[in-house]
Amino acid sequence: MPTSQRKRVLSGMRSTGKLHLGNYVGALQNWVRMQDQYECFFFIADWHALTTDYADTSKVKENSLEVLLDWLAAGLDPDRSTLFIQSHIPLHAELHLLFSMITPLGWLERVPTYKEQRENITEKDLTTYGFLGYPVLQAADILIYKGNFVPVGEDQVPHVELTREIARRFNQFYGKPGPVLPEPQPLLTPTPKLPGTDGRKMSKSYGNTILLTDAEPVVRQKLKTMVTDPARVRRTDPGNPDLCPVGDLHKIFSSQETMAKVNEGCRSAGIGCIECKGWAADALLKVLLPIQERRKKYEENPRLAWDILMTGTAKAAKVAEATMKEVRSAMGMSLDYEPLSKSEGAK
Ligand code: TRP
Ligand code: SF4
Repeated sequence: MPTSQRKRVLSGMRSTGKLHLGNYVGALQNWVRMQDQYECFFFIADWHALTTDYADTSKVKENSLEVLLDWLAAGLDPDRSTLFIQSHIPLHAELHLLFSMITPLGWLERVPTYKEQRENITEKDLTTYGFLGYPVLQAADILIYKGNFVPVGEDQVPHVELTREIARRFNQFYGKPGPVLPEPQPLLTPTPKLPGTDGRKMSKSYGNTILLTDAEPVVRQKLKTMVTDPARVRRTDPGNPDLCPVGDLHKIFSSQETMAKVNEGCRSAGIGCIECKGWAADALLKVLLPIQERRKKYEENPRLAWDILMTGTAKAAKVAEATMKEVRSAMGMSLDYEPLSKSEGAK
């Protein structure tokens, strides 16, 4: 498809440091594929990281760089995608502020992640203005690029819905003669359930991750300690891969042949868990090794990656500036000089 006719995809990732396999399977892998079909904008949401990690900012920049290196390693291609960083485009903040004027508090209070996170993250004070406004900033991120599609996980769909509501309200107030901001569609990433080493969902906050940068021995060691079907206590007990987190890994990463061997061997107690985990490690490493190979170039010279980010940021800023011109003008606040209107009584 000619580049100019492509629909625009936009997505962001909070800068949380080194990425893990869950980030890869759940998002990144999908983004890499989209580069063939869409005009892609991907950005590091470092301001969004601050909504929860505001108290200690010593790692923000390093975390952003780690995310960037993992992106490039995974195959995001600066020749096809615009890669940029949120905090270097302050126009997001301007649009966020304007949106904050028209977003009713009730809309924000009923966002599911707002309640959930405030209940789950008890070690931080999340009763802040910024945390409540998280989805308003996200709406600004999306609408400032007039993104058509926003690839996200299930948990982010309410944020895209809210973005649509904000766009609609903006257009109602200021969109004459025509709408200024298009309503984006969420593009649900079909995410297989990726378990961490403890069997719960792989997540940085659980400390159960396998990192994209984990070296082969580390991957093998992590697999060794991974939980299995609890019914398989002894080597002679049959097990069930459908009830085993290692079985879930096989389903995502292993070939049909291996999967067949696992199914047969586990259910008949013909194989041991150690052997089975070795095969799972092989399958993971087949994905990880090429990623780690590509990362080397940037790891040796992170400056190269940072330059890519700065080039992408300059490109994105142009698009953002064009939208903000329209936004300001739709709101009657363009920066162009206009003479005073002659009203009654003004002599
Ligand atoms: N909230 C998203 C997350 O936690 C990250 C994000 C910020 C985002 N702004 C965005 C995603 C805009 C898509 C579009 O994953
Ligand atoms: Fe899980 Fe494999 Fe052990 Fe079966 S053999 S319980 S699938 S680790």
